[in-house]
Amino acid sequence: MRISENVSLRSYNSFGIGGQARFFASFTSTDELKRLLENPPLPELPHMILGGGSNILFVHNFFEGILLKNEVKGIEVVREDDEYVYVKAGAGENWHRFVMDCIEHNRAGLENLSLIPGNVGASPMQNIGAYGVEIKDCFHELEAYHLKDHALVTFNNADCEFGYRESVFKRKYKGQFAIISVTYRLSKHPKFNTTYGAIEEELKHMGVHELSIKAISQAVINIRSSKLPNPAEIGNAGSFFKNPTVDAAKYAALKEAFPNIVAYPVANGDYKLAAGWMIEQCGWKGFREGDAGVHARQALVLVNYGNATGDEIYRLSQRVLDSVQEKFGVELEREVNIV
Ligand code: FAD
Ligand code: EPU
Repeated sequence: MRISENVSLRSYNSFGIGGQARFFASFTSTDELKRLLENPPLPELPHMILGGGSNILFVHNFFEGILLKNEVKGIEVVREDDEYVYVKAGAGENWHRFVMDCIEHNRAGLENLSLIPGNVGASPMQNIGAYGVEIKDCFHELEAYHLKDHALVTFNNADCEFGYRESVFKRKYKGQFAIISVTYRLSKHPKFNTTYGAIEEELKHMGVHELSIKAISQAVINIRSSKLPNPAEIGNAGSFFKNPTVDAAKYAALKEAFPNIVAYPVANGDYKLAAGWMIEQCGWKGFREGDAGVHARQALVLVNYGNATGDEIYRLSQRVLDSVQEKFGVELEREVNIV
C-alpha cells in the first residue's frame, strides 16, 4: 500500500492521455482503502476511484488529488439453487476474464457482454450493455464503501436505479462510493439472446449448428473485434456519446427530412437514434486533426492517434456535438466520464 507522487496518467486510461496525478495508490481491500483515506493530507484532497480507465477522459494536464486504483480481487460462488448460481466478484477483477470464467463454468447471462474493456467494479456504474443485454438483467447486488462515512453499504438492483448507461453512482451518489464487489445471478438454464445486430449472421458464418453461450460469446468477440478499435493500438474509450432518445413526433419529422435515419423503437413510443449514423452524416467519420480524430469505421468512437491532449479530444467532441445539433436538432450527451 504505497502512495506515489506525480504519477503519469498515460498507462491508466485507454485513451492514452498524458499528464500526471498528484498522488496515486492502489488498494486490495476495504481496510487498505480506509487506511489510505486516513493518511494526511489525503482526506482533504479530491479522490477518484479508478478501474481499468476505459471510460475516462482526463481533460486537465494535472489531477490535483489522489487516484485510488481498485485492485480488490476474487471470484466466488455465494449461493446456488435449481435455477441460478450467485457469483461474487471483486471490483478489481478484469470484466472479460470474469465473463470467460462464467462461460467456462456454464453460467449464462453475461455472454453477450464479452470483450467489454474495464473491470467488474465499473460494470454497474453505467450499467454496461451490448448486443441486446445490460448488466441489470442479471445483476444481484453490490457492496460499496462510503468514502466519507467509512460504511460498507449493500445495494440491490432497485437501489442502483439502472437506466441506459446510467445508475445512481453516476448521478446522486457520484464520487461518494468505492464499489468493492458485485454479485451476479447467473442462469443454469440459458436463454440465448441472438436477435441483436449481426450475431445470427456471425454464428452462421462461424458454422455453428448447436447454440451455446460459448458460441454466442465468440460471435460477439468476432463482431466487436472487426468494428471497434483496440485501445492497445489506438487510444479510445468506446462510444464517446450515448444514443439519444426522441419522442414519436420528433422521430417522424426526422424520418421525413432524413429517410435513411437509423433508429429503434424503445419504451413509451419513443425512438433511440443511432448517434454514429448522425455523426457520419455530418461528415466526421475518419476526421483527424493533429492526433485527435473520429474513428474511420465507427463514428461514435473518438480516438487518440498518439499524443492528443484530453482537452483536444474534448474540444473535438464539442464540435461533433454542435454539428449534430445544427443538422438534426438533436442534443448528444457524452457517455465517457470527463475528469
Ligand atoms: P474506469 O474507466 O476506470 O472508470 C469509469 C468510471 O467509473 C469513473 O468515473 C470511475 O471513477 C468509476 N469507477 C470505476 N471503478 C469504480 C469502483 N470500483 N467504484 C466506484 N467507482 C468506480 N461500455 C459499454 O457499456 N458497452 C460497450 O459495448 C463498451 N464497449 C467499449 C469498447 C471499447 C473499445 C472501450 C475502450 C470501452 C467500451 N465501453 C463499453 C466502455 C467501458 O469499457 C465501460 O464503461 C467499463 O465498464 C469501464 O470500466 P473501467 O474499469 O475501465 O472503468
Ligand atoms: N452507424 C453508422 N455509422 C457509424 C457508426 C454506426 O451508420 O459510423 C450505424 C450502424 O450502421 C448501425 C447503427 O449505427 O446501423 C448502430 O451501430 P452499432 O451497431 O455499431 O452500435 P452503436 O449504436 O454505435 C452501441 C453501443 C456500444 C455497443 C454496441 C453493440 C452506445 C452508446 N453504444 O453502439 O457500446 O457495443 O451498440 O450493442 O449505446 C460503449 O458504450 O462504449 C459501446 C461501445
